Amino acid sequence: MSQSITFQVQPGGSLRGEIRVPGDKSMSHRSIMLGSIAEGVTHVRGFLNAEDAMSTLEAFRAMGVEIEGPVNGEVTIHGVGKHGLKAPTKPLYLGNSGTSMRLLSGLLAGQSFDCTLTGDKSLESRPMKRVTVPLAQMGAVIETQENGTAPLHIKGQAGKLKGMHYDMPIASAQVKSCLLLAGMYAQGETSVTEPAPTRDHTERMLNGFGYPVVREGSAAKIDSNGKLTATEIDVPSDISSAAFFLVGASIAADSDVTLKHVGINPTRTGVIDILRLMGANIEVLNQREVGGEPVADLRVRSAPLKGIDIPEHLVPLAIDEFPVLFVAAACAEGQTVLTGAEELRVKESDRIQVMADGLQILGVNAQPTKDGMVVQGGGNIGGGEVDSHGDHRIAMSFSIAGLRASAPITIKDCANVNTSFPEFRQLATQLGLNLSTL
Ligand code: S3P
Repeated sequence: MSQSITFQVQPGGSLRGEIRVPGDKSMSHRSIMLGSIAEGVTHVRGFLNAEDAMSTLEAFRAMGVEIEGPVNGEVTIHGVGKHGLKAPTKPLYLGNSGTSMRLLSGLLAGQSFDCTLTGDKSLESRPMKRVTVPLAQMGAVIETQENGTAPLHIKGQAGKLKGMHYDMPIASAQVKSCLLLAGMYAQGETSVTEPAPTRDHTERMLNGFGYPVVREGSAAKIDSNGKLTATEIDVPSDISSAAFFLVGASIAADSDVTLKHVGINPTRTGVIDILRLMGANIEVLNQREVGGEPVADLRVRSAPLKGIDIPEHLVPLAIDEFPVLFVAAACAEGQTVLTGAEELRVKESDRIQVMADGLQILGVNAQPTKDGMVVQGGGNIGGGEVDSHGDHRIAMSFSIAGLRASAPITIKDCANVNTSFPEFRQLATQLGLNLSTL
């Protein structure tokens, strides 16, 4: 883990200008995973050079894949084919990255070698039974800690996995992707049904590599008969990183920001829908399709926000954006209620508790509930010292809160901003946020 970093944001200001935020984290992970097991050389542009995606990249290097870069977002992957990965000589350390661990557990369950997946304190406390239980039903052999957490010891079951149908009890793209990746190595068909739509980058990218995944209603189906052929991947900017500025420019007076080349896959745009329901002024410009994914420029200008009851169907479509949406709620007129979001309690931190604690320190009436939060907006955001609990999205959300605060906000434990958005401070400052590190 990098050394401890404290952010301090001076109150007020506005955001103005045009920026391109870094590449999409979910797609960056998948580009390495699929490029590595493809046949031929895959070129990736727009790759996210941040700790989480690098954890995936290093894991595949440790399994014998030659990967060049990233240099200016460009990565070249010399694919080894579906059966070409080699046993790593030591445990694969995946840092803070839940996506790496959950997707890799599926991909590695059907290999011809054993391996161990480890991570930092946060990752080793996150629930892994959601993947190890269905994988075991497919014949995987994975040893976890007593409470189902990592380290995960995976005993390769080459040729022994069996396809199955799985009805996911939670709406999780990580679980869905894990099982689809395992399904590429299983006998017969593997199908996964989701209770609500979740991000579909795995399915889209598999198709981009020429590997068939069939979508039927709420089910995605795969079998082991396909093959991945190397391709070109253009990773758009991450809407989850853009979200900080969608909220920031909405709540700060006199703001006008354009975010270039943002991925607007409909399974990711809940943040735009929720902000628009709150009254935000967001224009989706220049829509186009890049490598099988919809992309646009987003222009956002200051607008008076109002509190809303957040429709539950939008929750999985905005799952990573709630920390900053709580800040929007604190600045809105009236009450905002979030329900149906208990998943937030098992992210990089307990995002319900940690955000409610921080908002309360800043004088906001934010009441955590079992599965969400009730935020009374309209009051003032004060200054004070809050703790991000090592969670990148909490650190960036409280930085954005500074735009409407009446005194400086100090945010502790911010080194993990590097897991998803190392350029945050530089880009936020460029737009007008008065943010420094202590
Ligand atoms: C991700 C899926 C989401 C999200 C995470 C990335 C992915 O997790 O929170 O940041 O890349 O598949 P869940 O699928 O567990 O909700």
